[in-house]
Amino acid sequence: MIERIYEFSGVLRFNHWVRVVTMLVLVVTGFYIAKPFLTPYVTDEPVNFMNALWRFWHLVFGFILIATTLVKIYLFIFDRQSKNERVSFFDFISPKIWIQQIKYYMLIGKHPHGRGIYNPLQFIAYFIIFMTLFLISLTGMILYVHVYHDGLGGFFYEILRPFEMLMGGLANVREIHHITMWIFLFFIPVHIYMAVFNSLYGKSGSMDAIFSGYTWHTQHKEHKEHKK
Ligand code: HEM
Repeated sequence: MIERIYEFSGVLRFNHWVRVVTMLVLVVTGFYIAKPFLTPYVTDEPVNFMNALWRFWHLVFGFILIATTLVKIYLFIFDRQSKNERVSFFDFISPKIWIQQIKYYMLIGKHPHGRGIYNPLQFIAYFIIFMTLFLISLTGMILYVHVYHDGLGGFFYEILRPFEMLMGGLANVREIHHITMWIFLFFIPVHIYMAVFNSLYGKSGSMDAIFSGYTWHTQHKEHKEHKK
């Protein structure tokens, strides 16, 4: 029998889509900061500050990204519905589930029935992405304190200077920030491919989960606890 399972809460889904938009804007504006691809229109003003404008929007969305990351950490720890994410950790440390999962991707086995909603490979991929988010936010904040010296920038200046030194100076920070972007640019297509693969090949409609919150599964005992 096919049953409908409630997987992602509304806040989690909203947070996910805000991140999608944020990252899109950050990649486009980031590319512009790295290599300005537009010329400002000709005016009598001595300077047009076009670069500062792009950087301003980059920062606005950068702070939204940081906020969504904090929300996600909060949800992962405290959200009742996110329990199915938390228990994925136990699948992650189970060798049996690892073997079954690899066999499934090699098209020679069935999808394992783990306790959580993420398989071990997914879990490790999301963990790496989290570390990447942390690194891009840290390097972004270091770059930020060198642009805005008052207010929040002034507050974080002294706190972030040691990290800047550890990375070998501001030029390196910028380089690390840029390279980190490419981790996302590789991750995003793989992430979409895997989501579609699991949804279609696994016949679970798991892509739906991030839109409606629900997926579809053949009934198993272990799924009953998530049922709503
Ligand atoms: C997905 C997230 C992000 C991506 C893809 C991204 C991408 C980029 C890229 C490609 C650059 C140009 C680096 C270069 O010069 O080669 C840049 C610069 C910069 N980013 Fe980000 N960034 C992200 C997040 C953030 C965050 C969270 C902040 C801070 C809140 C931030 C603040 C900055 C600043 C201040 C600069 C430098 C501006 C300058 O050189 O004047 N970025 N970013």
